[in-house]
Amino acid sequence: MIPGDKSKASANPTKAFFVRMITRDITLEDCIFDLIDNSIDGAWELAGGRPMSLADDTDLSAYKISIEIKPDRFSIHDNCGGISLDDAANYAFTFGRKDDAETENFSIGVYGIGMKRAVFKIGSKIGIKSTFTDNGGLMSFRVPVDVNAWLAAGDGNWDFDIEGADNLAAPGVQIDVTDLNEAAAQSFESPRFIQDLRRAIARDYALHLHRGLTIEVEGKSINGWAIELRQGGEFSPMRASFEENIEGEKVYVEVLAGMEAIPPEDSDPDGDWDEDQNRSGWYVVCNGRIVLAADKTTLTGWGTESWPIWHPQYTGFMGLIIFSSRRADLLPLTTTKRSVDATSQLYRRYRPNMREPSKAWIAYTNARRQRERDEVVGQEQEAKSVPIYEVAAQPAVVLPQVATKKRVPEANVLYSVPKPRLLKLATAMGNIRMPYKEVGLQSFEYAYADLVGED
Ligand SMILES: Nc1ncnc2c1ncn2[C@@H]1O[C@H](COP(=O)(O)OP(=O)(O)OP(=O)(O)O)[C@@H](O)[C@H]1O
Ligand SMILES: [Mg+2]
Repeated sequence: MIPGDKSKASANPTKAFFVRMITRDITLEDCIFDLIDNSIDGAWELAGGRPMSLADDTDLSAYKISIEIKPDRFSIHDNCGGISLDDAANYAFTFGRKDDAETENFSIGVYGIGMKRAVFKIGSKIGIKSTFTDNGGLMSFRVPVDVNAWLAAGDGNWDFDIEGADNLAAPGVQIDVTDLNEAAAQSFESPRFIQDLRRAIARDYALHLHRGLTIEVEGKSINGWAIELRQGGEFSPMRASFEENIEGEKVYVEVLAGMEAIPPEDSDPDGDWDEDQNRSGWYVVCNGRIVLAADKTTLTGWGTESWPIWHPQYTGFMGLIIFSSRRADLLPLTTTKRSVDATSQLYRRYRPNMREPSKAWIAYTNARRQRERDEVVGQEQEAKSVPIYEVAAQPAVVLPQVATKKRVPEANVLYSVPKPRLLKLATAMGNIRMPYKEVGLQSFEYAYADLVGED
């Protein structure tokens, strides 16, 4: 008989374990991206919440996200509508989305963890302030979190207090973090960290920046990467759209692929950094956010199913697969938004659509090695870079048909004959001054035609 007070094995998590665990496998940069994602979700919802296809022209130019990174302080501020008091009380600060939670349309957020994980990763004194419209007027609140006090208060109560606050200049959210964790403080001191962050923002939010969204870091706004593919001459990128129906919900898929840059002269570049190679590969986009960039691994097919592993020879290839759905949980993104869930049925279904253009490119780069370089590059240069938004619909990638000449092994013939006899033969062939080599070749052809006949 088990005594009543021992009939249950306690399994409640401790706060300390929880904080350590959720912040462990995500980079600081991806945490900052989680906060940007939340601002963008707010903006996208306000702007209409539509599928983010390339053809969609939602204007985000009214929205701005400002990030400040100092050695002792982090802040992010947006004008993207804010968190309502109801949402704050019931949902926004909950660890993990409840099953019945309303999801924002076409959001990047899925799991209900990003904001909490981000602030815990950055530091231990946190202030989250929100201003939102309520019955036509503005209302504000703030949620201060002192992580050490919260941990010390025991594991019985996980809630945070909500307090009154002054209004921000416009409906939006402002998050400030001080008492930075050691790793954050170290990174934030480094100009390199900030430079890398800017670069990553320019790339991974390229689709939002293209629609006019402003993201500034340290007061300087970021120019998005202009994603382009080369089109023209004998080159056409593929651009195809599909629609799936999963659990009664639509998922929109677009695949684009083709030549992004002219392949390298030397397929084994010895420099450590090769910009073109660096940009080449597959990109996976979920509800507008690039979650996997320039991928050359098995995640996007390289080295699987009779598909070779990535080689610098393939530099110049770029493919994008763009998923969007009202329900972000149907998309193949991971909780860190830094990779794809390779086990996702949806993602696996599109692997063949990714394989075809990759293989066409591999075959093209193999064939082009057999040809005169000037001729090949001349043809490639006829294809001009166009923004992906302007690429014409095309079911498969079109590349020049490179006929590979079959090389026939050669035999060299060398023999000596008395000179008077050679001259006699040359004369009989019609020219006493015919070069010896020519006499030899013609006699070979003569004997070949007589004894072998046509090839
Ligand atoms: N800047 C913001 N503007 C408007 N709402 C916000 C903002 N930041 C957070 N929220 C609200 O707080 C909620 C919780 O954010 P959190 O990042 O923790 O989870 P999520 O975005 O729902 O999912 P995920 O874990 O995938 O990011 C969001 O769903 C959103 O409703
Ligand atoms: Mg989020």
